[in-house]
Amino acid sequence: MAEEEQHQHRHEHTHQYPPGMHPSFLRVLEQKKRVKQKLSGIKHKIGVYSAKGGVGKTTVAINLAYALAKRGYKVGLLDADIDCPNITMFLGIEDKKMEPVLPLKPIAYNGIKIASTAMLVDEMKRPIIWRGPIVTKMLGDFFENTEWGELDYLIADLSPGTSDGPLTIMQVLDLDGFIIVTNPERVSGINSMRSGLMAKRLGVAVLGVVENMSDGKPSKATEETVKTLGTELLGAVGRRKEFAEFTDKGKIHIAEDAVAQKEFDTIIDNLTEHP
Ligand SMILES: Nc1ncnc2c1ncn2[C@@H]1O[C@H](COP(=O)(O)OP(=O)(O)OP(=O)(O)O)[C@@H](O)[C@H]1O
Ligand SMILES: [Mg+2]
Repeated sequence: MAEEEQHQHRHEHTHQYPPGMHPSFLRVLEQKKRVKQKLSGIKHKIGVYSAKGGVGKTTVAINLAYALAKRGYKVGLLDADIDCPNITMFLGIEDKKMEPVLPLKPIAYNGIKIASTAMLVDEMKRPIIWRGPIVTKMLGDFFENTEWGELDYLIADLSPGTSDGPLTIMQVLDLDGFIIVTNPERVSGINSMRSGLMAKRLGVAVLGVVENMSDGKPSKATEETVKTLGTELLGAVGRRKEFAEFTDKGKIHIAEDAVAQKEFDTIIDNLTEHP
């Protein structure tokens, strides 16, 4: 190809994209548009997130979902932790499986529609070893090829870290925003702060912070996280040894513990006061 022709070819190939925008990013934007349309029956989409593992994202997501349902809202719960899905284990419904055909049909449990990769694998102990593109594809199916129907709230329980799973959710799902979960320790505060800053940088709102495993008064690290993110503390959930037992028995914490119910009521009151 002559040099001039090559130049012309390059020009033709790239001129259809907005200046400076890589074609693959344009595809992400197109997917975001499709997802928005597909999920137009859902009024609010909220992610529960922290880059730090084990802070209580799944605990907060499940209890938040059931506390919202208790108020009469129609709620869906997406286990967006694709490779270590824990929601079915927490709820003691490991035996519930979705038909592995598209569109996927979430499974209703106690009035909440739930979808998880754990409902697609035949054996809970089987590790899910997927590279980023497959994780992204699975999330895409949960957004574009799952029959969520009409919902007031879709709560997404994210995986820790700041790589493919959370990144895809931030780029593709048209979220109201994230609830950032943290623990009193400095290491949790720093990594939770990182998560919130990542979300903000990608244009996703931070709705507030929940201090889980709280000792009462919010720690210095939590206060600093809230301040740096320019958000508010939605509430705290105390550190309770009974939680492990409830989880192991597949019991929902707020149904067993009146104090936990109150804590989640406060979180929802603060969340819905400032939508
Ligand atoms: N408030 C609490 N008091 C006591 N134990 C708790 C509390 N919240 C969560 N836990 C326990 O801490 C562990 C981690 O909780 P959970 O799985 O919800 O965290 P996570 O952030 O979702 O973890 P991962 O990063 O692995 O997804 C679980 O064993 C859970 O039962
Ligand atoms: Mg989890």
